[in-house]
Amino acid sequence: MKDLLRTEHLSRADIDLILDTAAQFAENPLRSNTALANKTVAIYMTKPSTRTRLASETAVAHLGGSPIFVRGDDLQLGRGETIADTAKIISGFCSAMIIRTFAQADVDELGAHSTIPIINALTDDDHPTQLLADWLTIRENFGTDISGRKFVYLGDGNNMANSWLIMGAIMGAHVVAATPSGKWAPSTRAIEVATNIAKRSGGKVEVINDPEAAAKDASVLYTDVWMSMGDPESERKEKIAVLAPFAVTEPLMSLTAKDSIFMHCLPAHRGEEVAANVIDGTKSVIWREAFHRRTTIQSLLFHLIKGEIVGFKQ
Ligand code: CP
Ligand code: NVA
Repeated sequence: MKDLLRTEHLSRADIDLILDTAAQFAENPLRSNTALANKTVAIYMTKPSTRTRLASETAVAHLGGSPIFVRGDDLQLGRGETIADTAKIISGFCSAMIIRTFAQADVDELGAHSTIPIINALTDDDHPTQLLADWLTIRENFGTDISGRKFVYLGDGNNMANSWLIMGAIMGAHVVAATPSGKWAPSTRAIEVATNIAKRSGGKVEVINDPEAAAKDASVLYTDVWMSMGDPESERKEKIAVLAPFAVTEPLMSLTAKDSIFMHCLPAHRGEEVAANVIDGTKSVIWREAFHRRTTIQSLLFHLIKGEIVGFKQ
């Protein structure tokens, strides 16, 4: 597989390989510090980023390469140059490109027209590199035997909810998304993709509207901001009111398994989707999770550039 455009393109074997190497990069970031020697990686973002940008730039540097950061408006792409033409130019200069933008279709198109690896660093639909960091964190906490465990996402049915369901299905996990129904539910497509993957992986995919039922005996409670980048401000008031019952609070956490953890991709809004005493409490693994953004992106780049990611055709 040339690119990582969508979470569902990863096979279980790819994920295991990426996480194994990422665990080594967590111990020693410079283990493969010549893999990208004399090479450049473009990082193009039309949305803000703290973790993904820093993780990507440090990952490239630790592999011996040079990151080139370009913001949305910097490229002629923002003035109407086509994605296909841009893809050809970037392929001529760089060894890979990491892109964060709005439309998934733009990332897919870039992948189709470039000859270098393209990595999706978040779209409105998907956030595959985040899920790699999440699953390395899950593996560190629970090991590889996840039978009988329940992995729960609560809140807005956004890009993170979609990716959570799909990645969990690939891992053969029992994954749950507890979200409102209607326009703030996970995408129908993501639910369908995850359900199909779960049929062959032995996983179980549930989408429900009851936060207490979801939290009961869960090993992980995961949440994300209620207003994502690009969400219409005009909907804020209504959306926050609808999502209020899905906030991760201490009483909700008390329903979970004894060894449960709290996860969040960050940035967080304490007092909105999560209570301060949960995200800053003893069950929270958010800093380790954020740290793994670098280790996993470094590992992904390392294996993608060597042509070692096989991928899975749906
Ligand atoms: N979790 C995540 O993608 O964070 P940033 O938006 O800061 O990159
Ligand atoms: N759902 C959030 C994730 C941020 C990492 C967003 O898209 O803004």
